[in-house]
Formats: sequence, structure tokens, C-alpha cells
Amino acid sequence: MNSFKPHLTPNMSTIQYSATTGQPFLRLPAPFSNIIVTPPRMSDVEPSVAIMGDPAVAQWMGRMGPGSTYTTARAEAWLTALKAQTDAMVEELRGAGPVSGCPLRHIREERADGTDVFIGDVGLVRSSWTEVFDAEQRGRFVAENNARAAGDPEIAWHVGYYLAPSHHGRGLMTIAVKTLITQFGIPLLKTKRIRSSTFQGNYGSLRVLQKNGFVIVDTLVEHVQVGDEKKSLHLMEWLGADSMIP
Ligand SMILES: CC(C)(COP(=O)(O)OP(=O)(O)OC[C@H]1O[C@@H](n2cnc3c(N)ncnc32)[C@H](O)[C@@H]1OP(=O)(O)O)[C@@H](O)C(=O)NCCC(=O)NCCS
Repeated sequence: MNSFKPHLTPNMSTIQYSATTGQPFLRLPAPFSNIIVTPPRMSDVEPSVAIMGDPAVAQWMGRMGPGSTYTTARAEAWLTALKAQTDAMVEELRGAGPVSGCPLRHIREERADGTDVFIGDVGLVRSSWTEVFDAEQRGRFVAENNARAAGDPEIAWHVGYYLAPSHHGRGLMTIAVKTLITQFGIPLLKTKRIRSSTFQGNYGSLRVLQKNGFVIVDTLVEHVQVGDEKKSLHLMEWLGADSMIP
């Protein structure tokens, strides 16, 4: 059975540290208090491949059609690279200085026997302007943004997520996004600017963002090839904490 040491930082984040793994985590509020958001683990490869392979998820992640499947090899490469970044951020978090990004993103459901199960991902990361196809322009945006020092409120962040279909439609991701922004982004990253995007027709994702204070600022018509279809993309911007659901 896990026992947890609350770690209240001076700036009111509610990060805790697991007594079993030593890793930081955020616990979602009721009625989701058996859900935690932690750094990624290599043991998440297989469950993430299973979730991303479900059409209810894959179709909205742009992973339909030849060559787009999220394979075990892709997941291993992704999690290896991601974990190197999040491990470094966890060390920053333990220190006194500013934190350059959010290492907490993998969503886990705690079971009665003390184990937990990976059920999704909610990332608050520096924007990579994937909707900009002009490589020179995109490169300039990314380079400028990445050059900003930790804690700079001008940093453009991006929020992105997916959840196991078994847990869709319960309000979980709305609260996960809210928790990440209010308990990590605002207090620890000094987040002021957050971008996101969602395919037109992805009502669940649109609502998650709207309820968290995002509005559509542009719609790029038939912008992304997904399988044999060109999907339109809503670009969304966050209006700030006052615009979030209470
Ligand atoms: C998008 C996603 C993360 C939403 O997570 P969730 O926990 O089910 O969302 P919530 O339960 O917080 O619901 C948010 C809103 O979406 C609605 N919603 C959720 N799933 C829905 C669905 N399949 N169809 C229609 N509406 C849905 C809810 O009713 C709620 O809207 P409301 O407040 O107007 O009632 C989840 O459906 C998912 O993983 N989808 C596949 C991957 C994906 O789309 N990722 C985002 C890419 S931009």
C-alpha cells in the first residue's frame, strides 16, 4: 500500500511524492481521487500501444492509414526520449530553481491492491507549432520559444492528451487538464500562454478545451491528411484561469 508525503510548495502546487517510487505526482480531485498523474515509465509502452491502437483514439490522433500505426518500436523510441526529458525535469523540481517543463503527464488509475494502471496521457509541453507546414517559419517559432528561460511567462505552451476508451465520457480529461494547468502550469511554470488544436468534429476534445477556458482562434480547412481524408483543424488559445470551469 502506498503512503504519500504531501509536498506543498510555497507557490501552492499540490505535488506529492510516492513513498514506493519516490516519484512526484498530482492526484485529481473527487470524484477522481483514485487517478494520479505521474512521470512516464518504460512499462507504459505496451498499454500505450493498446490505447493508441483503438480506432476511438487513433482517428483523432491522426494515426489512421498506412505507416501511421503507433507500434511498440515507436512507443519505445518515444518513451525513451520523453523519459530522458522528464527525468531531468523531476530533478529540477526537487531543487530550488525554476522548472523548465512539466514531467507529470501519464494518467494512472490506482487499484485497491495498491497497483496502478496506465490509462492515458496529458501533456503540458512547449508548443512545437506542428500546424505550420513551412519548415523555416516553424523552425523559427520553435527556436524562439525554446530559447526562453524557465519561468518566462511569454513561453507558448501546448496541451495535448488521450485517454483509454474505457474511461471516456466521465469528465476525467476535463479535470486532468484543469489540474495540470492550475497545479503545475500556473504555480511552477508561470504559464500565461497555452495553445492547443483539435480536429473539427472531435466534440469531446473541443469541450475539454472550452471548459478549460480555450477558444477557437482559427480553423485550418482540410489541413491534415488522416488516412484517406483531409481533416480541418481548430487552433485554440487559452484565455486564462478566470475562464476555466470552477
Ligand atoms: C478527447 C478525450 C480526451 C476526452 O476525454 P473525456 O475524459 O472522455 O472527456 P470528458 O468526459 O471530460 O468530456 C468532455 C466533454 O466531451 C463530451 N464527450 C466526451 N466524449 C465524447 C464522445 N465520445 N462523443 C461526444 N462527446 C463526448 C462530454 O460530454 C463533455 O462535454 P459536455 O461537458 O458538453 O457534456 C477522449 O475522448 C479521447 O481520448 N479521445 C481520443 C483521443 C483524442 O481525441 N485526443 C485529443 C486530440 S486533440
